[in-house]
Amino acid sequence: MSLKKWKAVDQYISDQLIEQDAALDAALKASDAAGLPQINVSPAQGKFLNLLAQVLGSRRILEIGTLGGYSTIWLARALPKGGKLVTLEYDPEHARVARANLAKAKLSSKVDLRVGAALSSLPKIASEKLGPFDLVFIDADKENNPAYFKWALKLTHKGSVIIVDNVIREGEVLNARSRDPRIRGTRALYRLLSAEKRVEVTAIQTVGSKGYDGFALARVK
Ligand code: SAH
Ligand code: DHB
Ligand code: MG
Repeated sequence: MSLKKWKAVDQYISDQLIEQDAALDAALKASDAAGLPQINVSPAQGKFLNLLAQVLGSRRILEIGTLGGYSTIWLARALPKGGKLVTLEYDPEHARVARANLAKAKLSSKVDLRVGAALSSLPKIASEKLGPFDLVFIDADKENNPAYFKWALKLTHKGSVIIVDNVIREGEVLNARSRDPRIRGTRALYRLLSAEKRVEVTAIQTVGSKGYDGFALARVK
């Protein structure tokens, strides 16, 4: 099995199950044109996030790591009337591209995009009482994943779901001697999750157009 096959199957899934969408296509095109890295979720993963938000009946969603707003669009579209999504992005250029993409998708009124280091924005979000959030999607700098998860716990309620992206990294997560701060952050997250009594949690390995990776899903007890 190879990336080539995973990509072909992801293409098949998209062709069969995911409706063509001008705003999502335009968001990826504009992100590419602006030179953003192609590390957005895949269409199938984006739709998974959208479905999860719908299943949960999410009215408030928090996203950490906006990039060009591709996952943001999938998530924000699951919101009912009056629902809100707060998304945090460090890089002003990424945020600029995301704002334009969200405007094109007619989602600007539902999305509150905060520019700056997430660890600086999170205390403000807490003090502004923008939560509690029904769903949190953590997808930014992996070294800070333990800190983001702790914040997510503060900003959620019983029954909320917290998703953390990229917790497998081609199996590098097994490498206890890794010097890569992203792997070290991910392994620190697993340690935290294994000791954290306030959540029930699993992790799922995935293959597809974005390679071999995976996500963790936690439910707040
Ligand atoms: N969720 C997006 C992909 C996010 S990529 C999608 O699937 O479409 C990760 C993003 O996190 C990048 O845009 C990066 O600039 C941002 N990021 C990195 N460090 C950050 C930090 N400390 N605070 C907030 N965002 C950060
Ligand atoms: C990277 C980051 C992501 O959020 C992702 O989904 C894939 C890759 C990265 O930093 O390489
Ligand atoms: Mg990711």
